[in-house]
Amino acid sequence: MVDFQFPKDFLWGTATAAHQVEGNNINCESWVLEHLPGTIYAEPSGDACDHYHRYPADIALLADLGFNAYRFSIEWARIEPEEGEFSYASLEHYRRMLTTCHEHGIAPVVTFHHFTSPRWLHRYGGWLDEKTPERFARYCERVTDHLGDLISVACTVNEANIAMLLAKLLPFNRQEQPWWGAAAQAFGVPADRLGLFQFVANARSREIIMAAHRRAFDVIHAGPGNFPVGMTLALPDIQQGEGGESRAAEFRREMSDCYLEQLRGDDFVGVQTYARMVVGPDGLIPPGEDVELNQMGEEFYPEALGGTIRHAAQVTGIPIYVTENGLASTDDSRRLEYIQRALRCVVNSLESGIDVRGYFCWSAFDNYEWVSGYRPQFGLIAVDRKTQQRTAKPSAHWLGAVARANRLQF
Ligand code: BGC
Repeated sequence: MVDFQFPKDFLWGTATAAHQVEGNNINCESWVLEHLPGTIYAEPSGDACDHYHRYPADIALLADLGFNAYRFSIEWARIEPEEGEFSYASLEHYRRMLTTCHEHGIAPVVTFHHFTSPRWLHRYGGWLDEKTPERFARYCERVTDHLGDLISVACTVNEANIAMLLAKLLPFNRQEQPWWGAAAQAFGVPADRLGLFQFVANARSREIIMAAHRRAFDVIHAGPGNFPVGMTLALPDIQQGEGGESRAAEFRREMSDCYLEQLRGDDFVGVQTYARMVVGPDGLIPPGEDVELNQMGEEFYPEALGGTIRHAAQVTGIPIYVTENGLASTDDSRRLEYIQRALRCVVNSLESGIDVRGYFCWSAFDNYEWVSGYRPQFGLIAVDRKTQQRTAKPSAHWLGAVARANRLQF
C-alpha cells in the first residue's frame, strides 16, 4: 500500500510538442522531410490534433481532469519563419495560450526547441553550423521579451542527446539512405552539411546544441520573469547485462553523462524516460521474446524511471522535473499500470531525499509520433483523427485525480 503526500508545489502535468499537436506547421524542416520522395516518415503530420486552434478547450480539459501544469513547446518556425523576420501574430498566439493556462490554474512549462527548426536554418547547415547557437539565442531572447512574464518553467532544448540515442538504438548510417540526399537537396546543402537535430549524432552537433543551450539559458534568465531554466534529456535506464560492464559504461558516458555533467550549474534537469537499455559485451541486448513490448518495440519497464532519476541527480546535483514519461499502447489499462509503477519510483526518489519537482506524462493526446506517424498511442486523451473529438481515457482520470489530491494512495 502506498500513501504519500507530495511536496506542496509539485507540478503535475502532461506534455506535448508543437509539431506533434498543432497541425500544419509548414515552415519547419520536418514538414519538408515528411513530404520528400522516399521519405522515412510513415505519413505526414497534416492537421495533427489541430491544437493550434483548439488549445482553449484542450487546456480547459486538462485543468478539469485535475492537472496543475502543462508542458508544451513554442514553434521557432512560426515565430521566425524567415531569418530575422519575427511574427508578432505568432508571439501573440502563444501569449494567449499562456494566459489561458493561468486562467485555468495551470503552470505553463515552455520548451523553446522541441526537435523542429525553421527551414531556413538548414540552408546554413542547421545544428552543424557554428552560428546556430547565436541564431537560437536571438529567437529565445525575442520569445522571452514577449512571454517571459507568463512562463512558469522554461526548457531550452528538448532532448539534446536524441540523435545519439537513436544512433545506438538503430545503428545504421542514415546518411547512406537515399532520402538523406533528397533532404540535403531540398535544403540546398551538401549531404554532409545536413544538420538535422534528430538525426545527426556526432561531436560537432553535440557541441553546437550544448552551446545553444548555454546561450539560451543566459538570455532567458536576463529577460522578464523569474522562473527556473533547464534542458531535458532522453534518459533510458542503461543497465549492464552479463559481461557488459565496460560497454554499458561507454553507453552511459556517450549518451547521458557527457551531457549531464554540463548541466551542473542549471536550475534543473528534465528527465525523460520510457524504457531501459540492457548492454552486453557486443552492445545492446534486445528484449527477449516473452517480454511485453510497447508500440515502439521497447520493453514494458516502468521501473526505468527510478534508475534515471537517481543517476541524473547523482551526476548533476540539481533539482529534477520528470518532463516526459509514458507508454505507447492501444491498451489503456497497461498505460495505467505503467504510470502507477513509475510514480512509485518518483515516491521512492522523494523519500530518499532527491529533489523531484514535477511529473509530466507524455502525452496529453494521441499525437504525431515523428517517423512512426499516428500509429503509436501515447495519449491520456484519445483524438478522433477525422472529427478531432477528444475522449479522456481512464488513465487520464486516474492521473488527474492523483494530481488534484497531490497524493498517491493505492
Ligand atoms: C520526445 C517526444 C516523443 C516521445 C515518444 C521523446 O523522445 O521528446 O517528442 O514523442 O519521446 O517517443
